[in-house]
Amino acid sequence: MHLTKEEEQILNGEAGETLRKALEILTALGDIYDADRLIPIKSAQIAGVSYKTIGDAGLEWISDLKGKVKVPSILNPAGMDLERWDRLDISPDFAEKQKEIVQAYEKLGIRCECTCTPYTLEGFSVSYGDHLAWSESSAVSYANSVLGARTNREGGPSALSAALLGKTANYGFHLDENRVPTVSITVECSLNGSDYGALGYVAGKLVGSRVPLLHLQDTPKTDELKALGAAMAASGAVALYHVEGVTPDACRQDFENPAEKITIERSQLDEVYESRCGAGKEPELITIGCPHCSAAELEQVAELLKGKTVSKEIWVFTSRELATRFPEYMETIENSGAKVVCDTCMVVSPATNKYSCVMVNSGKAFAYVPGMCGAEAVFGSIGACIEEALGGKERKEKREVEKGEKKGPENDKKAGGSH
Ligand code: F3S
Repeated sequence: MHLTKEEEQILNGEAGETLRKALEILTALGDIYDADRLIPIKSAQIAGVSYKTIGDAGLEWISDLKGKVKVPSILNPAGMDLERWDRLDISPDFAEKQKEIVQAYEKLGIRCECTCTPYTLEGFSVSYGDHLAWSESSAVSYANSVLGARTNREGGPSALSAALLGKTANYGFHLDENRVPTVSITVECSLNGSDYGALGYVAGKLVGSRVPLLHLQDTPKTDELKALGAAMAASGAVALYHVEGVTPDACRQDFENPAEKITIERSQLDEVYESRCGAGKEPELITIGCPHCSAAELEQVAELLKGKTVSKEIWVFTSRELATRFPEYMETIENSGAKVVCDTCMVVSPATNKYSCVMVNSGKAFAYVPGMCGAEAVFGSIGACIEEALGGKERKEKREVEKGEKKGPENDKKAGGSH
């Protein structure tokens, strides 16, 4: 990889040990992936924030670094709500370590708003064609696919190194040739809301790390694209996708339809909705907001909970900025007994670990909760999640009908009954 004179001096340690280490990480990656040079980036989003995932070794590594980041940089969710951490039974020891991690990042000049949806924040805008170094997989997918920016799925250390240098190695999704679709997916049903998370969960498993070009019957909203990309990045490793006639690269470039074609039918999405926890277990915890809720999603949750009282534990995850910007939604949601939680999520917080059956509205959480939290997961729309939190009447009746314990339309017919 070609280095400028200044970069060579940094690599020789002339700008200090932190930048030397950072450049060493980037040049090692550049050499592995055949990058020709380093390119400037507009921003960095840094994963490796939760004490649950990085532990003491991670804390030590970050604390040893000196200096300031060169581009706007922001953190991924931490292991707890940084202000109201005690509401989710986080231990004081964990809280102390978590705060130390965030402070160590803050010293480096990083904006300590911990969110996987930085593109919704004021002062963190992304334009078409921007080169970035982002690391959270759903944010990477959204930046590449929906915003038309260019980023690889960075690890925590490489995103931090890129932030400190203001540069990243020029390979992968920074290059035109790697952004061309390699597999075509035709969805043979109409989609709405949480269907996009279910589709992402199914599609990600089928395409792995390839770049899909999706042919959809409907035009998805941005929150639906967010859910689709997050799920494909979790059940597979999709960092870039295109939707014919919708996403910016697909609209600007005349992509040929890839030779490999996959068809997805409604019955495959139904299987995701039909997920159940084993041994007749019911969801003990309901979580909404993976990726973090947008303003529109907070409004929807608030509308569904208005004037009602939940009977199950329900956590709604969003960024602190949106929670602060929309106090009316927060108040309505919390008046119901639901908890709005910032800076963290159901996957990276240890708070989820004590539950054995968790209901989620996200294809990504559906893929990750079993492995990362040791709980079984059930998938449903925001409406179904709220219904479950309010007592689960609808889902419970449906399950009883399925088990034949209660007469539904089908069982009525079998039993000779009529409506
Ligand atoms: Fe965000 Fe956590 Fe989901 S980081 S995408 S809410 S797993």
